[in-house]
Amino acid sequence: MLLHLCAWPEVEDRLKHSTGIVVPIGSTEQHGPNGLIGTDALCAEVVGRGVGEALDVLVAPTISVGMAQHHLGFAGSITLRPSTLIAVVRDTVQSLARHGFDRIFFVNGHGGNIATLGAAFAEVYADRSLHGPEEGSGRNSRALRCHLKNWFDGPAIKALSEELYGDAEGSHATPSEVSLTQFAFPESIKRAALTPEIAPKGPIHDSEDYRRRFPDGRIGSNPALASPEAGKRIYETAVDEVAADYRRFLDAE
Ligand code: NI
Repeated sequence: MLLHLCAWPEVEDRLKHSTGIVVPIGSTEQHGPNGLIGTDALCAEVVGRGVGEALDVLVAPTISVGMAQHHLGFAGSITLRPSTLIAVVRDTVQSLARHGFDRIFFVNGHGGNIATLGAAFAEVYADRSLHGPEEGSGRNSRALRCHLKNWFDGPAIKALSEELYGDAEGSHATPSEVSLTQFAFPESIKRAALTPEIAPKGPIHDSEDYRRRFPDGRIGSNPALASPEAGKRIYETAVDEVAADYRRFLDAE
């Protein structure tokens, strides 16, 4: 069930039975000539909502803008600074905790968010350690836990990407993530000529350097291989794997 399609008494009622919630988080950044700018946010949202349906868990609105400074050389990309994203995540978690949610499960769609999310969780824990669990956290008395799950890097989804695309998977604008968006949004499938077929690889620094190294935005990938049929398999595998991780997270001490 989607949090933003609930009325508050429904949320209050659900909290009597479960204090877990899924928060999709992604990025709004170029994904090469045939990838959607929203790919990372859309993939996290689609997988997060799939987990919500499979396990009857509440799913919060997606945090759609993340850490994308190195993509700003391409039209349409939007970034937050690390300090801004930390503040967004911290305020989101503390708002939810105030109501009694104490298991906050982030489904992440963007590798560039990982370090900053870790810092945001550390800020949340530091607030609680410095001020005590009661202050600013409403009636919540159980220890608050935040968890980060990247939909794209579990063993099952990595094995499937390897089977489908091998060396053409790459690390940005991958055929796996493009396939997932093609499955979820078939009306928005893009076609483009990609040269070379497999994009170059290399380090990432600032946006100018990025555009020079990776002129069409891809890194190491061939997303021309993407298909909605593959996207369906990727969706099902990712939802299963992320749902299992959510269950483990909720059962842990
Ligand atoms: Ni991506």
